[in-house]
Amino acid sequence: MIIEIKDLNLDINNFQILKNINLCIEKGETIVLLGKNGSGKTMLLKTIIGLYKPNSGSVKIFDKDINNLSKTEQTDMLRQMGYVFQKSGLFDSLNIAENVVFALRRFQPETKEWLLQKAIDLLKSAGLENVEKKSPAELSGGMQKRAGIARAIAMDPAILLMDDPTAGLDPVLSDAIAELIVGIRERIKSSIIVVTHDLKIAYKLGHRIGLMHDGNLISIMQTGEFLKTDNEYISQFRSGNLEGPIPVLD
Ligand SMILES: Nc1ncnc2c1ncn2[C@@H]1O[C@H](COP(=O)(O)OP(=O)(O)OP(=O)(O)O)[C@@H](O)[C@H]1O
Ligand SMILES: [Mg+2]
Repeated sequence: MIIEIKDLNLDINNFQILKNINLCIEKGETIVLLGKNGSGKTMLLKTIIGLYKPNSGSVKIFDKDINNLSKTEQTDMLRQMGYVFQKSGLFDSLNIAENVVFALRRFQPETKEWLLQKAIDLLKSAGLENVEKKSPAELSGGMQKRAGIARAIAMDPAILLMDDPTAGLDPVLSDAIAELIVGIRERIKSSIIVVTHDLKIAYKLGHRIGLMHDGNLISIMQTGEFLKTDNEYISQFRSGNLEGPIPVLD
């Protein structure tokens, strides 16, 4: 098992953000997480990379508890993980090329020219050209998102966590990003979690699809089953109905 989440609970200021989450992900598997705004998707991803410490339960990656690692183990773990932030997460003080090879620079001290060419290639694979010298602020939201994706895949990560990777992208680009993700997983057999609100992306990428609701992972099933099930939460989510167990307002 690549990722193993067991009885995970996260509370912040006595507010339960994640409630007893259990989830295992195999090598090469893509899990898609859906769920309404505020249901805990981002916090789950952030807890998986160790940005938040669970109050109880555990996250194991390659059989190691990520909250119980030595400094070297932690560095080693992080270099195998790519993270696409919901908001682009680029460093304003670096240009786009420097952003994209940020992790590479740290782990593979190659020449400046090599790094620049690598950045250009990665950006191209995410559909961006002639932006390497620009600052993040000079890019549109969708372009920043793609630069963030280029950065996340720079290290060929064994684990890729993507928070709404196609938000704000037009349908053609969304599809191109989905193809890019398929290409990565075929090439390096990464285990991937994709958070999205886009059902088309979910069906295209997910081997399994999970639905988060109110801090719970209320169900997770094979994509084929997700499309057919009469589970009332899932059918409401599939059709975008106002009627059903998922309230529009809390
Ligand atoms: N840093 C934080 N401190 C305290 N509470 C937080 C923090 N970040 C998020 N929350 C709360 O945790 C809950 C889950 O938030 P989260 O960001 O995971 O939602 P989400 O499912 O990613 O939503 P969206 O689809 O809008 O991105 C929300 O109630 C939110 O208010
Ligand atoms: Mg979120």
